[in-house]
Amino acid sequence: MKDDPTIPADARFETRAIHVGQDYRSETGAVIPPIYMTSTFESGNPGSFDYTRSGNPNFRNLQTTLASLENARHSTVFASGLSAISAILFSLQTGDTILSEQQIYGCTYRIFEKVLKRFGVKIKYANLTNPENYDLITRLKPALVWLESPTNPLLKILDIKAISEVAHKAGAVVAMDNTFASSLLQQPLDLGADLSLLSTTKYTNGHSDCLGGAVCTNSDEWQDKMIFAQKAIGLQPSPFDAWLTSRGAKTEAVRMERHCSNALELATRLEGRKGVKSVKYPFLKSHPQYKLAKKQMSAGGGMLLADFGLSYADTLAFIRRLRLFTQAESLGGIESLVAHPASMTHASIPKDAREAAGVTDGLVRFSVGIEHVEDLWKDIDAALKKK
Ligand SMILES: Cc1ncc(COP(=O)(O)O)c(C=O)c1O
Repeated sequence: MKDDPTIPADARFETRAIHVGQDYRSETGAVIPPIYMTSTFESGNPGSFDYTRSGNPNFRNLQTTLASLENARHSTVFASGLSAISAILFSLQTGDTILSEQQIYGCTYRIFEKVLKRFGVKIKYANLTNPENYDLITRLKPALVWLESPTNPLLKILDIKAISEVAHKAGAVVAMDNTFASSLLQQPLDLGADLSLLSTTKYTNGHSDCLGGAVCTNSDEWQDKMIFAQKAIGLQPSPFDAWLTSRGAKTEAVRMERHCSNALELATRLEGRKGVKSVKYPFLKSHPQYKLAKKQMSAGGGMLLADFGLSYADTLAFIRRLRLFTQAESLGGIESLVAHPASMTHASIPKDAREAAGVTDGLVRFSVGIEHVEDLWKDIDAALKKK
């Protein structure tokens, strides 16, 4: 999929996002591909399509684009990020071990604990920001090492290259959730991961109007497993959602530039503002893994954490005073969102355990959108002044 003869071999991300994966143009001249809303295909067609659960022209378009953007040989699309996660996990067997970074997306944790364990897969967790813990990979020899960087919600940065080297020596496959970074800012396969997964719901689509997921890989064996999971477990997206995501991917680079510049500006101003307890953003010098973030990401992303040192109730009141940041789950859309992990994603965890994991009552997660940065700053500043 890397080699499309119609696109210059040295075309950059912005150009590939728009031009790679448009092969259906040759049949009709349509500049934008149609949506193939069909469940089935006539036998013997030139594209070898048979039934949409096992392939559709809109999946093929998007898969070709995403493989190019992640610098991968293959990509398979799924109904959601969690479907992409499931496709990888259901390729494991009873008795296999997963060694996972301890601070991961809540629904990944839930599927590990509530689903996989029932099928006899063992899960171990470690703080993989600390190289001393890499030793656990060597000792456990897991089938899979599970990474997320930056992590959701605490924005920890993991050394994908160093961990992949250790994992490969131990015979483990490395899966890396690239959702928070995005394909533009970080290329996990180039850093040594075997599987790069995306919730395309977030920055790839970027408009908060559909769900989707993808797994990208250079391994033919894993690609076969992903295609098998798509059709055999029924994890495929709808053609319409795949089409919307293809449309979104065309503007990923320009959107990401604005997400990143807005988030860096807000992070810098918040850090300098009186009364703000702490700010976490990968490209702030104060971030504990700042140097690593600079090495493996080309910009700091659109996610930002701030602790205003307020009580649970006052933090929620601050969030309600914001006018341009909508309180909602999810991230990566053009519109700014705000979340209160203590009352939303981490509400079911007892306060002590939550705080030990770094999720304090005053912690606020911003998904910084692409609005004008001065308007966003005015909104935050006004909401803080009224406290
Ligand atoms: C890091 C990460 N991975 C995976 C997912 C799951 O994606 P989806 O909601 O598309 O299933 C999310 C969703 O928030 C996420 O933040």
